[in-house]
Amino acid sequence: MICDNLNINEKGHLEFAGRDTVELAEKYATPLYLLDEDKIREKCRIYTSSMRKYFGEDAMPLYAGKALCIKDIYRIMREEGMGIDVVSPGEVYTARVGGFPMERAYFHGNNKTDTDISFALDMGVGYFVCDSVDELYAIEREAAKRSITQKVLLRVTPGIDPHTHQAINTGRVDSKFGAAIETGQAKDLVALALSQKHISVMGYHCHIGSQIFETTPFTDAADIMIKFSADMKDELGFEAKEINLGGGMGVRYIEEHPEIDYAANIAVIADHMKAVCSARGLKFPAVRMEPGRSIVADAGMTLYTAGTVKTIPGFKNYVSIDGGMPDNPRYALYQSPYTVELANRMNDKKDFVCTVAGRCCESGDLIQEDVPLPRPERGDIVAVLTTGAYNHSMASNYNRIPRPPVVVLRGGEDRLVLRRESYEDMLACEV
Ligand code: LLP
Repeated sequence: MICDNLNINEKGHLEFAGRDTVELAEKYATPLYLLDEDKIREKCRIYTSSMRKYFGEDAMPLYAGKALCIKDIYRIMREEGMGIDVVSPGEVYTARVGGFPMERAYFHGNNKTDTDISFALDMGVGYFVCDSVDELYAIEREAAKRSITQKVLLRVTPGIDPHTHQAINTGRVDSKFGAAIETGQAKDLVALALSQKHISVMGYHCHIGSQIFETTPFTDAADIMIKFSADMKDELGFEAKEINLGGGMGVRYIEEHPEIDYAANIAVIADHMKAVCSARGLKFPAVRMEPGRSIVADAGMTLYTAGTVKTIPGFKNYVSIDGGMPDNPRYALYQSPYTVELANRMNDKKDFVCTVAGRCCESGDLIQEDVPLPRPERGDIVAVLTTGAYNHSMASNYNRIPRPPVVVLRGGEDRLVLRRESYEDMLACEV
């Protein structure tokens, strides 16, 4: 099994977080998102403890809420001593209502409007990750109105291509995010930020991409960030207190993906940073990382019920499920790999290679292709593994399909934290 929270029980059913998934599908109906709270906490602890151990006591991981943003997640993040990355007023609001201490929140985004900035300041967001000159002036104006000094990190693009999917690759020079080091725009942004009265520049941020398995893109980015910081010290007399390396560590979705030792990766990145800092005579900064996917992905699973099963002789087989791109658009968008199982028939021979299709009126609504399964029957439970990240958070009501509920599993208990959307919910904003 691809993760240690999966098992097969004596009935031949798939177990997740020690629970029989077939029973959970019966209890809550499908489609259904499950979340393993212990796994989320375990991942948080790997980041908090190894970042402190290797980067120093002032290091802190920030959970990137874009991966999964519900109130309950912010309770877990608060209890685990994490910071958070928020990217919109909606995420700011969710975190705040979820009881998260907002001084540990970092507000991201390449186009924060004046209203967003004002809202985030009123919500007590601790840090802004400033993306551009336009935004810098807007933060200065809003902070001046309130007679406060706002802490800011400046987002720079280190020019790294981490070889992941184009759409989730964000650290290149021509990215829509941040100011490029290579073109000199990053330096201009630093100089300008230092001259603002109501802005306190804390350091720099970069994010190079997502679902990255190797450490080299991170050590390369860290090298560039430290070198940039040293140059700014020499040229502008400003030494950064914080360096934020963004998120992006990969997750094992399928057997072919490597198992990732996050603590070991952090140790490698820290060693590099220390060497480069001492070579350039810099004080070691407080390090931030922003894991999203690697905190929640394998803590999640989606259960569906199989419906139509069809064979087109000489071509292919399909099994259609009662969800699809509205609850998981990732295959349609990025051809993302997933492991799919028949949760009620885990010991049956997998001799039926099929395409798992969603229920939408759209041919591209697929969850996965070429999946070996036992030949499914109508009513079988289809489990798609590792759906904790970028599934619920990217879900839509396409074809007027209500979003599934989220059930959290912990210590043998199951807890509904988000109920299934109703048809009335989908009409609620119509006037
Ligand atoms: N920090 C920043 C500034 C980011 O832009 C992101 C992700 C993260 C942290 C978290 O990265 P992670 O650790 O989750 O890889 N929807 C796509 C992923 C887009 C990621 C965007 N930024 C997907 O489903 O694969």
